[in-house]
Amino acid sequence: MQSPALFKPIQVRDLCLRNRIVIAPMCQYSAEDGCMNEWHLMHLGKLAMSGAGLLTIEATAVSPEGRITYADLGLWNDLTYAAMSLTLDSIRRWSDTPIAIQLNHAGRKASTDLPWKGGAQFSPGSGFGWQTVAPSPAPYTKGDHLSASLDKAGIREIRQAFADAAQRAAKAGLDAVQLHVAHGYLLHQFLSPLSNFRTDEYGGSVNNRMKFPLEVFDAVRGVFPSERPVSVRLSATDWVKGGLQLEQSFAFANELKQRGCDVIHVTSGGLDPSQDIPIGPSYQVPFARKIKEEVGLPVVAAGLITGFDQAEGIVSTGDADMVGLARTILFDPNWPWHAAAHLGGKVRAPNQYLRSRPSNYRDLFDVE
Ligand SMILES: Cc1cc2nc3c(=O)[nH]c(=O)nc-3n(C[C@H](O)[C@H](O)[C@H](O)COP(=O)(O)O)c2cc1C
Repeated sequence: MQSPALFKPIQVRDLCLRNRIVIAPMCQYSAEDGCMNEWHLMHLGKLAMSGAGLLTIEATAVSPEGRITYADLGLWNDLTYAAMSLTLDSIRRWSDTPIAIQLNHAGRKASTDLPWKGGAQFSPGSGFGWQTVAPSPAPYTKGDHLSASLDKAGIREIRQAFADAAQRAAKAGLDAVQLHVAHGYLLHQFLSPLSNFRTDEYGGSVNNRMKFPLEVFDAVRGVFPSERPVSVRLSATDWVKGGLQLEQSFAFANELKQRGCDVIHVTSGGLDPSQDIPIGPSYQVPFARKIKEEVGLPVVAAGLITGFDQAEGIVSTGDADMVGLARTILFDPNWPWHAAAHLGGKVRAPNQYLRSRPSNYRDLFDVE
């Protein structure tokens, strides 16, 4: 039987993924002062045993003000670095699954409560809140406080914070870095005409609006080791009339390609609460396909990819090079095992679990 496309390795720079299953970044809102703790060891440790080709650490703030909530993970100083290194060292002792990290600044969507406590935004000085910053002082939603508009010094500071965090990520041995330019956070806020009303060189035309995200990309690519990949997560469209459209995403992705971006992780929305999204299985896959065709970079498609044949179809038809799973793999952390069993692939499992293999799947595990 031909081996399934989902379980074919893929090489990106020096990083070789055993299969095309990428665990998408998922905020856990469980850090303390930006530091990883036992939760992250349990959560990431569990996912590192899943057999996925790549595990991506949640949106990680490059500065305290860049956190979505007060319990977001960070990588802005020695303490956050030390906590992350400790966690990663423990996981790596038992798993060789490659690990990437998503770097983020939440911009105007920062300073909110935990999602399971309603997620409302704290105003500066109230509760766990602080003053948010953004390209322009336009709130995300009614009831949010006004962000401070970033001046040139503020822009330089955040660019440097991204570079510093990428350097820490490199030192912690992370295999890849992903820039979060999606879901309405700061870099997406610069890109979208619905949140960027600047009249300087960072606003106006799409070329101006992409200037800051590209500067951040250059700063990160410049410090992250050249043999390790840097990817970008991009909201291909805002799903709002007058917002970011696919053609502008092509332009941005083309610029990224020229600057050495390795992979585009395609998602959508999150910038404006009036978004109208026709949600359904694989609903973002067509964007991934179009970006891949237009730009010629490898793409990850994500969003309601839940089925084994569905995922195999996406990769085997070339719609995307990899699939990104979030809720799917939280619900079933051994999804890659089950996919391999269903499709006739091989998957890596810890030696301690090899005896779990059902007798009708003799060749399921790819033993070290
Ligand atoms: C609990 C949770 C946390 C998430 N956190 C992030 C995040 O940190 N960064 C990000 O880009 N997307 C985040 N997302 C979005 C997912 O990565 C993914 O794009 C989305 O859930 C659609 O994929 P799914 O249908 O497989 O869940 C999160 C989703 C969930 C469910």
